Amino acid sequence: MPKPDTCLVGIDIGSSKVGVLIGKKDDDGDIEIIGQGMAPNRGTRRGNVVNVESTVEALRHATEEAEMMAGYEIEGAFVGVAGFDVRSVNSRGMVAVTRKDREIRAADIQRVLDAAQSAALPSDREILHAIPQEFIVDDQGGISDPLGMSGSRLEVAVHLVTGHTTRGKTVLTCVNKAGIRVKELVFEPLAAAESMLRLQERELGTLLIDVGSGTSGFAFFLEGEVQHSGVCPIGASHFTKDLAQVLRTPFDEAERLKIQKGACLTSLVGDDEGISVPSVGGGTVNVVRRRELCEILQPRAEELLQLVHDDLQRVGRADQLRGGVVITGGGAQLSGLLELTEQVFDTGVRYGLPEGFKGLTQVIESPSWSTAAGLLRYGLLAEEAPGRGQPNRLSVKSMIGSLKGMFSDLL
Ligand SMILES: Nc1ncnc2c1ncn2[C@@H]1O[C@H](COP(=O)(O)OP(=O)(O)OP(=O)(O)O)[C@@H](O)[C@H]1O
Ligand SMILES: [Mg+2]
Repeated sequence: MPKPDTCLVGIDIGSSKVGVLIGKKDDDGDIEIIGQGMAPNRGTRRGNVVNVESTVEALRHATEEAEMMAGYEIEGAFVGVAGFDVRSVNSRGMVAVTRKDREIRAADIQRVLDAAQSAALPSDREILHAIPQEFIVDDQGGISDPLGMSGSRLEVAVHLVTGHTTRGKTVLTCVNKAGIRVKELVFEPLAAAESMLRLQERELGTLLIDVGSGTSGFAFFLEGEVQHSGVCPIGASHFTKDLAQVLRTPFDEAERLKIQKGACLTSLVGDDEGISVPSVGGGTVNVVRRRELCEILQPRAEELLQLVHDDLQRVGRADQLRGGVVITGGGAQLSGLLELTEQVFDTGVRYGLPEGFKGLTQVIESPSWSTAAGLLRYGLLAEEAPGRGQPNRLSVKSMIGSLKGMFSDLL
């Protein structure tokens, strides 16, 4: 049985499934996948828990499966969140270094990070992440770690990700009820980035889009750090709903059609192939052409991509995609989405899959596993360098702390 302190656990509570991965840290600093569990999730919609019981049940199933495979009992986990209400904003903080020697110490760095997070937050929101983009010492910018440098003025630019307090607490409730301690809540696109973005992409300017079932999360990286992120309220299930509505076919049939025959770029499909589509309630079977499916799917795909593009343009980043776009999440597999993304963003696009893992890598060879795999790597970094990228850990801790009493009797 692996020792507890050598294992990491990532839990992705997605709108379609709960995915759990257990990874073991090896001596080279790599992660070996040793356990995987998955259960369909009917308790989460658009990234938000709408039914606690169903979500807890899915969590129990998925974690038990992963535990059996790994021969390891899960105690704590890094848990992804991606609700439609997650918001991000860039903020700055500045403090004076008044000590005689002007040497910047850890306490100064903490003070300036606190200052950057002190912007007034509505009482119903919590900071999930406060990720330093750069430190500025006097007028010298682009510094990643100012510890030990000399200066009289220390500034920082941070990327703040905030979430709805009660929705975050509901996620904690669910995970606690499944008998697991939440080590940290992680915004899912940031976790996914850890599993697949290459160093050069992070430096050059790359957008990651995670096309999930209920929503599509995105994050833009430049000069090594996240510069912008957000959630678009359209995911792969909207494509299925469109097909079901227009073709008057049951949702499950529409899902099958989308996966087997769907495409979202009419120029990629001929108009000759006829496909049988059963109608709602059985009885009749209609025949539609593949091109007709595409005519239903393409406008929705364009809407999704355009919303993300407009948001990137709003923050002045749409023309900084020198590293291209990486699409992942189960919905990224829709035929034609890659080519359509190239057209909308006018840059190179690739599919993103988890990279650089060891062990049972075949279980994560699907873009649906990007987030769970990324949570393991995020966890590794967080445990190796506590505080890095998470100077706000206190706020999450306080949420967890306030819940501990409530749920201790359930554990
Ligand atoms: N070949 C395919 N073509 C198109 N869509 C697909 C394909 N395979 C899976 N999908 C879609 O991927 C979605 C599941 O993706 P994923 O597992 O990333 O979602 P999730 O993480 O559960 O949801 P969310 O991130 O929104 O909470 C389903 O809605 C499914 O329709
Ligand atoms: Mg997801």
